[in-house]
Amino acid sequence: ADNTVYRASTFAPVNIAVIKYWGKRDAKLNLPTNSSLSVTLSQDDLRTHTTASCSSQYPKDSLTLNGSDQDISGARTQACLAELRTLRRQVEEADSSLPKLSSLPLKIVSRNNFPTAAGLASSAAGFAAFVRAIANLYDLKSTPTELSRIARQGSGSACRSLFGGYVAWQMGEKKDGSDSVAVEVAPAEHWSDMRAVILVASAEKKDVSSTSGMQQTVATSTLFAERIANTVPRRMQEMEKAVADKDFAAFASLTMKDSNSFHATCLDTEPPIFYMNDTSRAAIRMVDMINSEAGKTIAAYTFDAGPNAVVYYQAHDEAKVAGVFKTVLGDKEGWEGARGKSVEAANTPK
Ligand code: PMV
Repeated sequence: ADNTVYRASTFAPVNIAVIKYWGKRDAKLNLPTNSSLSVTLSQDDLRTHTTASCSSQYPKDSLTLNGSDQDISGARTQACLAELRTLRRQVEEADSSLPKLSSLPLKIVSRNNFPTAAGLASSAAGFAAFVRAIANLYDLKSTPTELSRIARQGSGSACRSLFGGYVAWQMGEKKDGSDSVAVEVAPAEHWSDMRAVILVASAEKKDVSSTSGMQQTVATSTLFAERIANTVPRRMQEMEKAVADKDFAAFASLTMKDSNSFHATCLDTEPPIFYMNDTSRAAIRMVDMINSEAGKTIAAYTFDAGPNAVVYYQAHDEAKVAGVFKTVLGDKEGWEGARGKSVEAANTPK
């Protein structure tokens, strides 16, 4: 019998949305109620490293994250595995000399270098790395956009982590989700001055998962209808233009307004959901203060489904933005490790 262990590894970076995905029109396929746009952060700082291997020696499919066994029986993970195995089977059918990897048990070993499930987009990097590691193992010729369609089924925001730079997830129209994929809006080098500082207000697991938060918002918020019908479609266009023009003031204004709009719809649910805390609100006031002292908008905050702030700024404003956060908030309780992390927008190598 063939006992070979076949193996491939990859990294996937974190992405932080500036126009947020919030709401599913199809919970099974993770089809969103609106398009979204994100910036991919440097993988040196925030990333998942994943090794996929397969062998007849393995008893069954398995996944470990940071050394602990994960349940992979969930529908999302199973959907990704089924899609990848189907693609591999097609390759094997076309060329019978290839090893039949599609029928071998998989062993996936994953490691994050940042807190998991603290609203730091860990599922995005996680599922993107999961899908690409297996695609590499299976030697699939799929494009990043094709892989994004698969990663989306694991976690919506994961589809955007298949690309570096500035990335849009087009919501699509089709019922089968085939057009709900990520595309590159601009590569990182188009606007290479972009930086982000991440202020960890809490590294604890978030109390309302994004899936149930979205479900509750879609079901009970009245603000939400306006957000998806008008606000987000308009801001998506404005944001793509802000990125194309490298217009930081426009980028920042849209980023902050969209974060506030998303958190407002959360507050508008029954019962209300609070992802931000007092520390988060202090970060918002700091950004406002930095901008008014500069006399123009040089910093933009955004919050995902958790209290941690991501503050975008441009490299030439490092001292005025990241520097101020580090000195003023560095020693205050609630800011992990005394410092926020300053990271670059970056491209994704294969
Ligand atoms: O990918 P999910 O299901 O964890 O949802 C992520 C939702 C937000 O992070 C709040 C917004 C976004 O677009 O990433």
